Amino acid sequence: MKQYKVAVVGATGMVGRKMLEVLAEHKVPVGELVPFASARSAGGKIEFCGKEYEIIELTEQNVKACKADYALFSAGAGVSKTFAPIFAECGAVVIDNSSQWRMDESVPLVVPEVNPAAIKLNRGIIANPNCSTIQAVVALAPLHKAFGIKRIVYSTYQAVSGAGVGGYNDLLGGISGEAPKKFPRPIFANVLPHIDVFLPNGYTKEEEKMIKETRKILGDDSLRITATTVRVPVYYGHSESINVEFEKPAKADEVRKVLEKADGVVVMDDSANAVYPTPRELENRDEVFVGRIRQDESVPSGVNLWVVADNIRKGAATNAVQILEYIISGK
Ligand SMILES: NC(=O)c1ccc[n+]([C@@H]2O[C@H](COP(=O)([O-])OP(=O)(O)OC[C@H]3O[C@@H](n4cnc5c(N)ncnc54)[C@H](OP(=O)(O)O)[C@@H]3O)[C@@H](O)[C@H]2O)c1
Repeated sequence: MKQYKVAVVGATGMVGRKMLEVLAEHKVPVGELVPFASARSAGGKIEFCGKEYEIIELTEQNVKACKADYALFSAGAGVSKTFAPIFAECGAVVIDNSSQWRMDESVPLVVPEVNPAAIKLNRGIIANPNCSTIQAVVALAPLHKAFGIKRIVYSTYQAVSGAGVGGYNDLLGGISGEAPKKFPRPIFANVLPHIDVFLPNGYTKEEEKMIKETRKILGDDSLRITATTVRVPVYYGHSESINVEFEKPAKADEVRKVLEKADGVVVMDDSANAVYPTPRELENRDEVFVGRIRQDESVPSGVNLWVVADNIRKGAATNAVQILEYIISGK
């Protein structure tokens, strides 16, 4: 089998480390790995598939010298803005986890279960959506196809790891009374209705991302969507309450049947026996879990869903690796 040279930019971060894990688990044919990070980590070592690799400082010269086939980016928007085009100019296909390219019309925004055909339209850069959007659209795309979605109301409960190593450390340090460094307020024993920056209309950037990215991935600018995104003291795994209103009549049982057959979805829904997805119990899983499927009795056709996924896996690393696997498969 052909082997590929794969660069991972941000290899020492929360998402980058998980990318290495998923690449190995999924047995992606990586002949050579090039782990890039900042000058802070350069020279250190990182293990991948039983072999030690030296961490390389991300500079234009080092990118040009590396001649990678693929580059998986998870080092923030600023880094992607500067370095993704350099990789692309050198012939690599970049799969970028940051928000930098997601809304660029010339860049496909891809969730392989939903819009794999968009991958072929890439001109060297493919964007991975925001973690909270990925898990939502995996569940919503088959419902949009079956019943036509009219309106979505998102309310999220997002893990601290969504803010990287700094977010994780704020929860851990908060337990022993340390002041937060990453979040604006304490996260331990607290809930913050504030993810990313506030915009002039009062929404946060995270909320705007969910709204705009959902429309782009589902290919429907007419979708009416609103969102409230909230950080909760959970280490891994985002949970979402999703209220959906449909064009066509849809009973909760019919919605459950569609979801049971949907690619990448696991239905966990037996309320009588307290069976529903929770983030702590589903850590390190690649799928999107859906429970609490019930009719919204306040509208002619609509349901409420509870959707949980590991934000570092399906919300970031796994989705990026699945895009890479799709390209390599030559489909
Ligand atoms: N966490 C999530 O749930 C999630 C989900 C989807 C997308 N993302 C996106 O993925 C990206 C990384 O997130 P994360 O959670 O992994 O953050 P993180 O844990 O803080 O890691 C950041 C990584 O970027 C590297 N980096 C920072 N500045 C750099 C520079 N100037 N040059 C080269 N490398 C640099 C860091 O290297 P050093 O070790 O050298 O500092 C580290 O490897 C962000 O764009 C984030 O929005 C995160």
